[in-house]
Amino acid sequence: MTNPTIATLMAHRSIRHFTSEKLTTAEIDTLITAAQHAATSTFSQQVSIISVTDPAKLTILGEITGHQWLEQAGHYFLFIADQARNARLAGTSVLAQSNLHSTDKLLAGIFDATIAIEAIVTAGESLGLGSTIMGSILNDVPRLIQTFDLPSLTFPVLGLAIGHPAEQPEQKPRLPQELMHFNNTYQPLDPADPQLAAYDRAITSYYQQRGNHRREETYTHHILTEFSRDPKQRAGITTALRQQGFLSD
Ligand SMILES: Cc1cc2nc3c(=O)[nH]c(=O)nc-3n(C[C@H](O)[C@H](O)[C@H](O)COP(=O)(O)O)c2cc1C
Repeated sequence: MTNPTIATLMAHRSIRHFTSEKLTTAEIDTLITAAQHAATSTFSQQVSIISVTDPAKLTILGEITGHQWLEQAGHYFLFIADQARNARLAGTSVLAQSNLHSTDKLLAGIFDATIAIEAIVTAGESLGLGSTIMGSILNDVPRLIQTFDLPSLTFPVLGLAIGHPAEQPEQKPRLPQELMHFNNTYQPLDPADPQLAAYDRAITSYYQQRGNHRREETYTHHILTEFSRDPKQRAGITTALRQQGFLSD
């Protein structure tokens, strides 16, 4: 079963090389409008989006993420979990003001920002654009907060480099559905499941055949490597969340 929307979703791959063509104002407006129409928790619209066009700020983002190539993208968006706007609307209500600092409302902002970013990714792909979501903006949260003057009750969630693709990378195979879609009850993974072994082989073959950064790698080994990174690299996140007024409950 397919249609143009499903075909767009199924053709997804992250794009990290772009032509020099910048996004037009009309394209940017359309993408932001698509993001605004995404669902939003408790209809509280707790996401703000910063378009980053200042070359000095793009350089800083390149340094923070380690992705200097983002400076060549057609556009860059920063997604902010935002309860600061709602704090202004809530006025002097003590209960409302206190709730805005809760973990619940932090999560709501993160949900809204994440849903908005995927709307822009998909809308962009439907227009022939490509993009890469960047969680690596969290490598230096204090510098990010300072660079973009993020006030209390806001927190940076993700970045997005988007533009006209100058590459067509191979698609990364995903897990067999039997290992991630269950009926009624959660099914713990059996590391000896032959479907996992087959998926490991598929990922090995993907990494051996792709154009860029070929390597010998199974999915199982990739996960071990990913989760063996030094947690100190992002140790400042909890402190920064508290400094921004969250996690007070
Ligand atoms: C929350 C999130 C954060 C990500 N952060 C980064 C990042 O900082 N740098 C990067 O190159 N890719 C990043 N990605 C892209 C993933 O690496 C990519 O989606 C994954 O490898 C699957 O590849 P595909 O998107 O081409 O299918 C991120 C994706 C998500 C969803």
